[in-house]
Amino acid sequence: MSDVILPIVDLDVFLSNPDSEASVKECKKAADALITYGALLLHDSRVSEEDNNTFLDLIEDYFAQPEELLKKDERPELGYQVGVTLENTEKPKCAVDEPCLKVIARLDPAERPLDITAHSPDPKCRFFWKMSEKPPYETKYPGLNMPNVIPQADGVRERWTPVMEKWGSSMKTAVGNLAEMAAVGLGLPRETFRDAGRYGPHILAPTASDLVKYGEKDTILAGFHTDLNFLTIHGRSRYPGLNIWARNTGKRIPVKFPPTGRYLLVQAGKQLEHLSGGLIKAGFHEVVVNDATLQAIERRKAENPGRPLIRISSTFFWHLSSDYDLAPIPELQQRAREIRADAVNLGKVDLDEETVYEPMKVGQQVLNELRHIALMA
Ligand SMILES: [Fe+2]
Repeated sequence: MSDVILPIVDLDVFLSNPDSEASVKECKKAADALITYGALLLHDSRVSEEDNNTFLDLIEDYFAQPEELLKKDERPELGYQVGVTLENTEKPKCAVDEPCLKVIARLDPAERPLDITAHSPDPKCRFFWKMSEKPPYETKYPGLNMPNVIPQADGVRERWTPVMEKWGSSMKTAVGNLAEMAAVGLGLPRETFRDAGRYGPHILAPTASDLVKYGEKDTILAGFHTDLNFLTIHGRSRYPGLNIWARNTGKRIPVKFPPTGRYLLVQAGKQLEHLSGGLIKAGFHEVVVNDATLQAIERRKAENPGRPLIRISSTFFWHLSSDYDLAPIPELQQRAREIRADAVNLGKVDLDEETVYEPMKVGQQVLNELRHIALMA
């Protein structure tokens, strides 16, 4: 286990004057963090801790409902891309995926994730709330752009939309700005990623793990995997347990937020890896019950005895537009090749393991990935 602290990128500096020297430096820091760690901590003073708490309370209340009520919000026919996904549905792709198992094999044994080979589907529930803008053209992928499900139970229904929209908008704005910073830091025009994702099927996607049922040490709540979208952003969770892997160092990093202040965690997904020709790799992560989780459970029980004991992750997936042509940007791919050549010379990577990033529509890439994790036939 390593005690690496992720780089902290200040969005405030960028927003106050995007053209200043300090801002350009901050953009470079963001790009470098994504290349080295596939992740960073983002400071955004517009994001309110109170909104995060209101959101976490709502999602805890929602998932504390009986299963028959939750089932009404399932949309399996839409690949679970809106509404609820109940526990034990989604399989961590890595458990059956050879390239991914190789990634684990290459890690130092002390840095490996909990063993996922025997782990069947994840014991986590999730809700997908779309936060997309309707494209002004006819999309080839209407199935990825369907309307939201609003839970109908009293006490939840009336709070749902305003709370989801408020927290979701904070996340969406922050990650959209970070996409601009990353583009600048990579030497691209500021709007490169932002425009490519303008009509993306962005999703506020909280996950929930029942810590009464799954609160034993070393339980895997979400097995080792990468995200299929462009960038993923998270607010602070009430329970630790998220580990991420820095792709260029192979170190497992338990995610720790600074104790106070307005911070968000951002991680690179598959679409960014594809668009950057592998310069930025999608970041692997897992959620497990560890000693820090157990301590947080005890603290929560003592301080909030009346509240449901559910671990919520306030995740937001920022996507590229479904109709966007996904192909490596030549300058970034060139840089990726140079870095790779150095790594090959140092004996750090195998020559036969070059990933090919075939050009395709983003919508096709998403469908390919969903098939892999058993959410779509
Ligand atoms: Fe994930």
